[in-house]
Formats: sequence, C-alpha cells, structure tokens
Amino acid sequence: MATVPNLKAAPFDKDRRIEQLVLDLCTPDLREHALLQLSKKRENFQDLAPLLWNSFGTIAALLQLLQEIVSIYPVLSPPTLNPAQSNTVCNALALLQCVASHPETRMLFLNAHIPLYLYPFLNTTSKSKPVEYLRLTSLGVIGALVKVDDTKVISFLLSTEIIPLCLRTMEMGSELSKTVATFIVLKILLDDVGLEYICTTAERFFAVGRVLGNMVAAQVEQPSPRLLKHIIKCYRRLSDNLRACDALRSCLPDMLRDATFSNYLEDPSTLNWLQQLLHNVQGPRVAAMQAGGFDHMLVK
Ligand code: TRP
Repeated sequence: MATVPNLKAAPFDKDRRIEQLVLDLCTPDLREHALLQLSKKRENFQDLAPLLWNSFGTIAALLQLLQEIVSIYPVLSPPTLNPAQSNTVCNALALLQCVASHPETRMLFLNAHIPLYLYPFLNTTSKSKPVEYLRLTSLGVIGALVKVDDTKVISFLLSTEIIPLCLRTMEMGSELSKTVATFIVLKILLDDVGLEYICTTAERFFAVGRVLGNMVAAQVEQPSPRLLKHIIKCYRRLSDNLRACDALRSCLPDMLRDATFSNYLEDPSTLNWLQQLLHNVQGPRVAAMQAGGFDHMLVK
C-alpha cells in the first residue's frame, strides 16, 4: 500500500532536489556542494540545461566563478592552480557543457558568447595537472558544440579565433587534449565555411599544416592511433581544397606516404581515409603504388 504514494513522490522529489541545487549555485556557501552534486547527476536529468539557463542568476554565478579563477591565475607566479580550485571550475564547466549540448539552449549559449569565457583556459602554457584538467574540460565544452554539425556554430567559433587556441593545445597539451583539439579542427574543416576559412591565406594553411606535421612526427615516439586518425582526416579534408591540395604535394609528411604507420593503422576506415588523401595529393597512379604497402591489411 505504502509503495504507491512513494512511487509517485519519487520523481517529484528528485526534480525538487535538483531545482534546489540549481538555486544553491547562487549562494556562495552552498555553491561548491551544489556544483559537485549537479555535475554528478547531470546525465540522469535530461532537462538540466534549460533549468540552468532559465533559473535566475545561475549562469551568471557559473561565469563569475570562471572569471574569479581567470583573474587570480596570472598573478600566481609560477602560475599554479590547486587541485581543489581546478575541480570546482571543472564542475562548473561540466554544467556549461550540458547547456552547450542541449538543443534548446545551444544557440542561446552561443549568442551569449559564453565560449569566450573558456578561452583563457586554452591560452595557458602550463603543463601542471590542474591546468591540464581545465584545458581538457574547456575543450570538451567546445567539442560538444561542434559534435552536431551546424554551420552557425562553426561560423561563430571562427569569428572568435578558436583555431590558434586549438593549435596551441595540439602543440603542447596532453595526448587527450591534443585529440580533442584536433577533433575540433577536424569538425571545422569538414564544414565548407571552415575549410574555406583555413585555406584562404597561405599563413593560415601553413600554420595548420605545420602543427599537423609535427604531430605526425611525434607519433613515432608516442603512438596514438586515435589521434593519428583525426590527423589523417584533417589532411584528407584539406586535400579537397585545390590550393591546399597543391601545397600538400610538397608538405605532406613522408611518413604518411610510406608504410611507417601500416602496423598500427588497423582501423580500415583510417586506412581508407589515408588512401583517399594520397589519391588526391599524388594522383591515382602513385597512390595505387603506395597503397601496395598496405595491401596485406586490406585483404580480408
Ligand atoms: N587572426 C589570425 C588569422 O586570421 C588567426 C589565426 C592564427 C589563424 N593562426 C591561424 C586562423 C591558423 C586559421 C589558421 O589568420
């Protein structure tokens, strides 16, 4: 008998608890606990994003938290961030990611220019764990935005100069941040406006090409099939642009032309992307000859 009202009350209680936690974000003493609880529960509560967006003062409180960290970070010398600060900010970023991912709030998130609040975390050079964690979580928010293919998202990000920030992470981040940053650049390239943007000046093209080339070279010492797959897809997409394709004839790393990676490109789709790239850059005849190096892997 008693189970009937309980069953009915359960979802109501859960929603009420979530709503209370969202309100708690605005109270400095309760904020940290609310951040932790909400970021843990966010996967189970589908409409957290609109709730966060529509409750008074919540987004402002999250952004204020980010700004506090940004304002103290540069005055610390050497710049260090303690793990607790980093955790709190990452929980706030997790909630913002939730807003960035939700179809009802994504454009509101962009129109309020919220990605700009994350950029200081991408502009850092420290390799310390707490800073790296912030970098990775911030990239996760941008990654969530570009996951859905929407040219409006790409145009917005291009107008905010996201590419140099991604390139910086691709040069000095952890393997995981490098992978997310390369994924973002890939998603930008896959958009027609993005490809045109990057290939419109030689400086832009070579800035991207140089970083991709360095990452290919680094694969010898630190192999990462997941990262290499994104790198190959980036080159492959660049080869769709005529001028870029021309430039790749001289600047595509030799390691992608010979069989250097044949042993760990076990993923057939990556191999396929590489063959399309070589086909575009070298023409069908050379590509077929080069592909000989991978023949044993294609026969199934
Ligand atoms: N303002 C620079 C530009 O438009 C931004 C930039 C730097 C950039 N490096 C890049 C853009 C590499 C694309 C690719 O050129």
